[in-house]
Amino acid sequence: TERRSYTVDLIAGDGIGLEVVPAATRVVDALAARHGFGVSWREREWGSEYFFAHGRMMPVDGIERLSDGDAVLLGAVGHPELPDHETLWGLLIPIRREFVQYVNLRPVRILPGVVSPLRDVSQLDIVVVRENVEGEYSAIGGRAYRGGAEEFAVQEAVFTRGGIARVARFAAELALARGGGLTSATKSNGIIHSMPFWDEVVASVVGEYDGVGLRSVLIDALAAALVLRPGDFDVIVASNLFGDILSDLIAALAGSIGIAPSANINPPREHPSMFEPIHGSAPDIAGRGVANPVGQFWSASMMLEHLGERAAAAGLMDAVEDVMRAGTRTRDLGGSAGTEEFTSAVLSTINT
Ligand code: NAI
Ligand code: MG
Repeated sequence: TERRSYTVDLIAGDGIGLEVVPAATRVVDALAARHGFGVSWREREWGSEYFFAHGRMMPVDGIERLSDGDAVLLGAVGHPELPDHETLWGLLIPIRREFVQYVNLRPVRILPGVVSPLRDVSQLDIVVVRENVEGEYSAIGGRAYRGGAEEFAVQEAVFTRGGIARVARFAAELALARGGGLTSATKSNGIIHSMPFWDEVVASVVGEYDGVGLRSVLIDALAAALVLRPGDFDVIVASNLFGDILSDLIAALAGSIGIAPSANINPPREHPSMFEPIHGSAPDIAGRGVANPVGQFWSASMMLEHLGERAAAAGLMDAVEDVMRAGTRTRDLGGSAGTEEFTSAVLSTINT
């Protein structure tokens, strides 16, 4: 039989992305050797440095160059001397949209050796399913009378029946597989057009799934409940903006944003999916070798799972958990290990 092999585009990007992405490729290569598959990495030197040289975050045909790959593994983009909307809309958002990665999947668990900033929290195992290509993140609108007293801004949100239904379906199937309930984040009391529409479409799709109980909760109350009773939640489906905010909140409950992964998924698999930690380029610690690589490792594990390499995906997280259980932790978690020391510990766990 032919050896399984995958082509993965690597966009390390900026700041600590340049430190945690190479760590992740070493770990994936070690797993590939163990589990009998191969990965050919295509390194893409895109991001802010590329912008300073070429005036754009990636080449004009960047999307096309990625399109025949099996997946994209991304670090982070963001530079203190560039506006954040430039970096985001110049690379991340075009990839998510052109490849119709309409699900942004963000699991959160408390890993061994991590103490939640919340008192008494030990049970926390939540997956946020964030709508990833429409909603509040829209380029429709504009600004007028710049700098004047009459200046104004208009920002439109776009919600479509098809867009809401497909993310609700993904969330319902995940809730069914996990055997838990499904919570939908809403704000239909204040946002009177799009959010009642969201509620209706979510309820009708989830209604087709017998085993899934649906709770619709207002986003403000949901934020409070997640802090007070995080153990009550399992799968949460949310619009682009609400999902973005909730997943950072929940990731913080699990100890550090350096841990949390995300997967931008094109469920029909017509295009590559993209895997990235939720943290940014962390310019405050970049270049010092202290970044926590766990968010990048967990993202790589989700990528392996998506590629069908289940054993390697589980092996990666088992190794990370073993290392953390044994007390090796980076500084954001109160430890003293640097990126290299943590990565070496994971590699030797995989290789024994
Ligand atoms: P950030 O996530 O880069 O950093 C927030 C704080 O968490 C910092 O104190 C940082 O040192 C710490 N931190 C983050 N990841 C860590 C890790 N792996 N290990 C240890 N500590 C870690 O968010 P911030 O500071 O708001 O944004 C910095 C830049 O990153 C901005 O330009 C922003 O636009 C960009 N950004 C990019 C994202 C992406 O590429 N998906 C996501 C979020 C922000
Ligand atoms: Mg975010």
